[in-house]
Amino acid sequence: HNPSSGSQSEALSADDVDAAADILRRGGLVAFPTETVYGLGADATDGVAVARIFAAKGRPSFNPLIVHVTDVAAACVLARFDPMAEALAQAFWPGPLTLVLPLRDGHGLSPLVTAGLDTVAIRVPAAPLAQRLLQAVGRPVAAPSANPSGRVSPTRAAHVIAGLGDRVDAVLDGGPCGVGLESTILRSDPPTLLREGGLATEAIERITGALARDTTPGKVQAPGQLSSHYAPDLPVRLNVATPDPDAFMIGFGAIAGDVSLSEDGDPVTAAARLFDVLHRADALARTAGKQRIDVAPIPEVGLGRAINDRLRRAAAPRPAK
Ligand code: TXA
Ligand code: MG
Repeated sequence: HNPSSGSQSEALSADDVDAAADILRRGGLVAFPTETVYGLGADATDGVAVARIFAAKGRPSFNPLIVHVTDVAAACVLARFDPMAEALAQAFWPGPLTLVLPLRDGHGLSPLVTAGLDTVAIRVPAAPLAQRLLQAVGRPVAAPSANPSGRVSPTRAAHVIAGLGDRVDAVLDGGPCGVGLESTILRSDPPTLLREGGLATEAIERITGALARDTTPGKVQAPGQLSSHYAPDLPVRLNVATPDPDAFMIGFGAIAGDVSLSEDGDPVTAAARLFDVLHRADALARTAGKQRIDVAPIPEVGLGRAINDRLRRAAAPRPAK
């Protein structure tokens, strides 16, 4: 197998974890499921492999990437934990939380992973297939969401193949992601929210107290979070309470819509469905003869905050293509 051959990507199942690990260890790219979204993985200690991530995604710049490890012990090799970071890791790992921490000397990561910063974003995913893959690789794995830059994050293997096709060596298929939103990103000292995500801030604040917020789209801390990051092609309008016959409606709760994020108004269900619905919205709307997408209001509570954050980005003006 030649990771740089540019041939068709290999479809791998849960039985093929060792093959996937092998590709990663040889510098290839493997898309793999976590409980949040599918990641586009590369060996985080191999600069050439990491560079391939940026090429495959067509990222406009070398934004820092999240490093995935099996457990706290593996994370401690890479970064220094203050007591608050320890408490957060204890409470929420494995799970949809990423901690931005000071790098430890001798960490061994490619500087491309951290974009030359002296901090690193680390996550311990809970999805069993991600855990098995990380165990088998035995190295930290850098992985942004496995979508082309500016597109909707993938929550199914089919989304990855539709977006990245042969730009990835293999796709490990673990079915749909349970959480469906990217991880929540925090800095621990002082406790600061850098990105809303799959872990609700209410749960975090039970440990940290009130969080400072530093989630301005496009800011240096979260350069991956450009405003149009989750965009369908058709224009998107938010908080539409009255269905308009000219628009394709994404419903929530009492507003049924043409497709619903959650019929019973549950933000957890809505989070798990969000990116799949956004992936299909253009096609569904066009099939229905609609040139616009409307979205019902989502309450700003729990995961509703992260859902609204992603929806605002989906509705934001697009850079020219
Ligand atoms: O759920 C997730 O987090 C998924 C899965 C695959 O784990 N990954 C993901 O990665 O969403 P990505 O690359 O799409 O988003 C990484 C975010 C970016 O906004 C990046 O700027 C931020 O993490 N980040 C990475 N390292 C950082 C650092 N040292 N300081 C601040 N922000 C950092
Ligand atoms: Mg992303």
